[in-house]
Amino acid sequence: MNDYRIASIPGDGIGVDVTVEARKVLDAAAAKHGFSLAWNEFDWSCERYTKAGAMMPDDGVDQLAAFDGIFLGAVGFPGVPDHVSLWGLLIPLRRAFQQYVNLRPVRLLPGTTSVLAGRSAEELEMVIVRENSEGEYSAIGGRHNTGRPDEFVLQESVFTRVGVERIIRYAFELARTRSGRVTSATKSNGLIHSMPFWDEIFAEVAAGYPDVRAEQCHVDALAARMVQAPERLDVVVGSNLFGDILSDLAAAVTGGLGMAPSGNINPSGEYPSMFEAVHGSAPDIAGQGIANPVAQILAGAMMLEHLGETVAAQAIRTAVDEVLTAGTELTPDLGGTATTTRLGTAVTKALH
Ligand code: NAD
Ligand code: IPM
Ligand code: MN
Repeated sequence: MNDYRIASIPGDGIGVDVTVEARKVLDAAAAKHGFSLAWNEFDWSCERYTKAGAMMPDDGVDQLAAFDGIFLGAVGFPGVPDHVSLWGLLIPLRRAFQQYVNLRPVRLLPGTTSVLAGRSAEELEMVIVRENSEGEYSAIGGRHNTGRPDEFVLQESVFTRVGVERIIRYAFELARTRSGRVTSATKSNGLIHSMPFWDEIFAEVAAGYPDVRAEQCHVDALAARMVQAPERLDVVVGSNLFGDILSDLAAAVTGGLGMAPSGNINPSGEYPSMFEAVHGSAPDIAGQGIANPVAQILAGAMMLEHLGETVAAQAIRTAVDEVLTAGTELTPDLGGTATTTRLGTAVTKALH
């Protein structure tokens, strides 16, 4: 029997509630499909920061390195500045473990209240391939002339040839297993160094995939297309920031932030990959027991898929679909009155 060692970091706010439910579903799927998950829980969070002065211990990365997977809730909560909490935990983990792909699949889930709910599932099947280790997310820069009328800040972006090429290549390889179509998010009309470089590498990589239809689109127009003509998109590749923004938009048009999973993937397998929902800690509903656990449950399915437990992963997705279709155990974001626990329990019971 396969036994996987998983590090769980519930984190902050609703990250804690949804992780409890997702673990329940994952354990039930494991029992049904003949493997087990050995969980180790880490209390790394804003609460820890407040008590101990750091989001995670100094050797945090080393503590996680030997796990088969990392299951993360959400990081960030009012009281600790976001750049402190995120750069103290989530972003360093993505970088240390070379999780340079942030994979964010979106599909129209049944029973959603999305503005596009009338569209067919095929029209709304997409995956955002987000660069996850460099780009606009950079600590390089600084504040100048503080307190003077000519005060300003510089925020640098870093795009390396290796970094851009590998994420674009990943998108093309993925497209070959899907529709054979890649759309690159650019903004080379406004950003005169980074995005022309991105476009140049996109064209170079595309030349090696004559079987894949390659297209680039300015990210502003791409955002509109995602709402008005989503059927024209399948694999969407973007920089760290563009991919971040587009993934919340994609989540919103397919059912909401409570439904969108995400995988921070280390493609070489040298380090653990990390799975989490696209959404954050939702301070506005934290502590109320009403967060939608579906995104975290589907992130769990992505983790099982990554571990090679494909059948169990599909069983979880089917169970989620069944519960959403039945429509009696929906959380308030989906128009229902169920709690996080009730929806999690319903998915657990629906597992085959
Ligand atoms: P958010 O995703 O936490 O919330 C945005 C809106 O979506 C809120 O109205 C929230 O109630 C709703 N929402 C999100 N998830 C939901 C769910 N599962 N069920 C029902 N409703 C849900 O974004 P935010 O408010 O910008 O960020 C809150 C905090 O989370 C910040 O500190 C931010 O930096 C952090 N954050 C962390 C991650 C992460 O850990 N990966 C991701 C995004 C934001
Ligand atoms: C996400 C989040 C993070 C990101 C923030 C919290 C730093 O929005 O995982 O999408 O932008 O990567
Ligand atoms: Mn985001």
